[in-house]
Amino acid sequence: MSSSPFIIVAIDGGAASGKSSTSRAISERFNLLHVDTGSFYRAVTAELLARGVATGDQTAVKSAVALLTLSTRVIGRSAFMEIGGQVVPEARIRSAEVTAAVSHFAAIPELRAALLAYQRGQVDVARKNNFRGLVMEGRDIGSVIFPDADFRFFLHADPEERARRRAQQGQPDQIAERDRLDSQRKTAPLVLPSGATGIDSTYLTLEQVVEKISATLAARMNRHHDQLDMEPLYGVCHYILRQFYETFFRGEAIGLENIPSDGGFMIASNHASHLDPPVVGSLFSRQVCFFARKTLWKPGFATWWLNSVGTIPVDRDGGTDVTAIKRVLGALKKEKVIILFPEGTRSPDGKLQAAKPGVGLLACRTGVPVVPARIFGSFKAFGKDGKLRLGTPITVVFGQPLQPSEYDDPSVGKERYLLASQRIMAAISKLELPAPVIV
Ligand code: CDP
Repeated sequence: MSSSPFIIVAIDGGAASGKSSTSRAISERFNLLHVDTGSFYRAVTAELLARGVATGDQTAVKSAVALLTLSTRVIGRSAFMEIGGQVVPEARIRSAEVTAAVSHFAAIPELRAALLAYQRGQVDVARKNNFRGLVMEGRDIGSVIFPDADFRFFLHADPEERARRRAQQGQPDQIAERDRLDSQRKTAPLVLPSGATGIDSTYLTLEQVVEKISATLAARMNRHHDQLDMEPLYGVCHYILRQFYETFFRGEAIGLENIPSDGGFMIASNHASHLDPPVVGSLFSRQVCFFARKTLWKPGFATWWLNSVGTIPVDRDGGTDVTAIKRVLGALKKEKVIILFPEGTRSPDGKLQAAKPGVGLLACRTGVPVVPARIFGSFKAFGKDGKLRLGTPITVVFGQPLQPSEYDDPSVGKERYLLASQRIMAAISKLELPAPVIV
């Protein structure tokens, strides 16, 4: 289990202030469920319009809303409202008709009250789906829905700039009118809540806004990660292995700055020795998930130990093992770090081998960043000949994380996973030792 706390990020702001793109990027970066509450108001509006309910008829709105059966479907990292078990299609909720009516419906207190519990319920949805928390965007998230959120941001931008952005999306909109209605309504108006961080995005790019918010989140979370983040037994083994590595094989760890400080990701490394997993694991202050062949689960101590330190059992060709894939997905959602060896088995001669498709499959299915790592010296220290040569330095070089777009090409069909593995392996092979280290 990850001991990271569940976090709630509230992002409020007027129409076309950049909330959605920003929230989506933050959800990716920190493995948070993305909840666009505007889409909820839009979905309910579409449904009420379809039922012929007029915005002026509060009694009809109230009774129609009471009859709606609301549930949530998670697709990717986003929450979608289901009404009567169906997700309301995006084309409908973004239609000009809905855009023109939504702020009128959203001003009705009974409708807001009905959605309040539903919105707060997204915490359970995020937890059930193993997200690390949620990022919720809207108008009243930091003021009414989650006034105690861990992070509260408020995005502004000049009206002209917002109108320009909306026009660029090709959507007709009444930004000024919606802002007026949203700011002036009596229940939960659009306001900058006290204590929230205001960000004016008029002259900032999306990336700059995302960076600002990410920096605030990461600064607080890294404080947590500075401490060792691991279960007790793993922690003891980690300490012992760290001492062992320092004493007998101390090389260098290069490129540690390439390791993401947050979120789930994979380390993909070459493999030449039984020492590889513990050496790489000992360089992290977070608990790392390892894989091992199912056959290692022998009754007794081995089984107890492998389970206690969270090792994931896999068939020989890990890529086709459905249970293993599910475990990897679960572990990554809990933002564990997973270490994998694309070559599948240890190198017989210390040279890099061809990649097998298994790691590519896991990477493509999970869509996480993959950090390439190359271990130098472990073959000499304890290679396939089985001779342990204490005192041989083992150095690990980490490269820049590969994003899914860099390793995954879904258009190639059957060869997709093999190609992803090969691209990952190619990134590993490019990593080099800085000059004077002797291996
Ligand atoms: O994306 P955009 O900023 O254009 O609007 P939206 O987030 O899709 O929200 C549509 C409308 O829903 C807003 O203009 C508000 O009237 C209403 N809304 C609200 O009242 N409270 C929220 N938490 C979210 C949206």
